[in-house]
Amino acid sequence: MVTTKLTDNQKQALYQNGYIVIKNAVPERIVKSAKKLVSESLPKNSRRLLVPAGLATDSRVIALFNETCLIDLLHNEIGPFPEVISCQVAITPGHDKIGGHPGPHVDGSWGGTIPTSAEDIDLVTGRPKDPIPYFGENDDLRGSNDGQLWQDPEHRISLGSYTALVGIALNDQNIPGNGQFGVLKGMHHLVESEFRRQRESGSVIGPEGLGWPRIKIRSDGTPFLNGLFDRVRMHAAKTASQNDVIMGWPWRELTPVCLQPGDAVIALHACPHTATPNYGPDPRMNIYFRIRRQRQGNPHEGSRRLGHGVSDHLDRGYFGQFLNYPDDYDPWQISVEKLCDHWSDWDGMQNTVALNQSDS
Ligand SMILES: [Fe+2]
Repeated sequence: MVTTKLTDNQKQALYQNGYIVIKNAVPERIVKSAKKLVSESLPKNSRRLLVPAGLATDSRVIALFNETCLIDLLHNEIGPFPEVISCQVAITPGHDKIGGHPGPHVDGSWGGTIPTSAEDIDLVTGRPKDPIPYFGENDDLRGSNDGQLWQDPEHRISLGSYTALVGIALNDQNIPGNGQFGVLKGMHHLVESEFRRQRESGSVIGPEGLGWPRIKIRSDGTPFLNGLFDRVRMHAAKTASQNDVIMGWPWRELTPVCLQPGDAVIALHACPHTATPNYGPDPRMNIYFRIRRQRQGNPHEGSRRLGHGVSDHLDRGYFGQFLNYPDDYDPWQISVEKLCDHWSDWDGMQNTVALNQSDS
């Protein structure tokens, strides 16, 4: 059955959990065509499964979203959005333990090289004490596909955002431990309230702001890029024991999103997520689309420079270019308001949100 609208139960699940799975969202013929392309592009006899950049804009791959019920479903539940022109092709090799422990995060922060010694980190902001070797002479000059330190020239907001992440499986991911997309189920509520706390305190919004050091130190003393608010990380650790024990899935705080080929997961930007190690023999193949609801008055809406579908930082160009905006249009302030009220981007969720919020 083709799903172009969520049922009330599905809406309630999306509200509570921050994500939902749509079974059989993509017809088999589109999955097979995309999988063939991805498989043929993988380098042979190499552990590095980098795929050619052209795949991300190939119409046969984009068809996973643009020619399926998912585009209608998101139009119904979100509202209008610009054309999707690109995607993220995310492959995790079989028998892959690279990356070790999964790193749940909220998308949109910078992802470059960091100091290797804890002594080199300012523990409050999480910035390197000497940032130049890592961030460049000027925070704004760095910025390519490894992300941007700041979304705006005034450094008020350090996180890019969007409305919904849509992930489509090309291979069978039914058995936990096969590289599933992992989520901190239900934590989007706390993420939103932490953004509000930052706004109310006048802090930077995102990393380097209140309760979110950009780089943190692990218990073994090594620095890591921190993709989450401290309070969210602590809450996830505290409540992990309430989650079911799952065979082959050692990360109790995370919920594995088990998918079969053609199934899709739809997650809020605020739903913390991570790739996970793939202990199985086959490459884990997911294609991700990032959708942001259309913003009235934004002169760049729909411009190909933004890379809608793949970009997680749509207030700058895909390659980090600062864009010119009219004096009366502040894209970053709008993004702050959206981070602090993520359901305002979801037209079709308004009744569900109102019902839940009148109960609490
Ligand atoms: Fe991510």
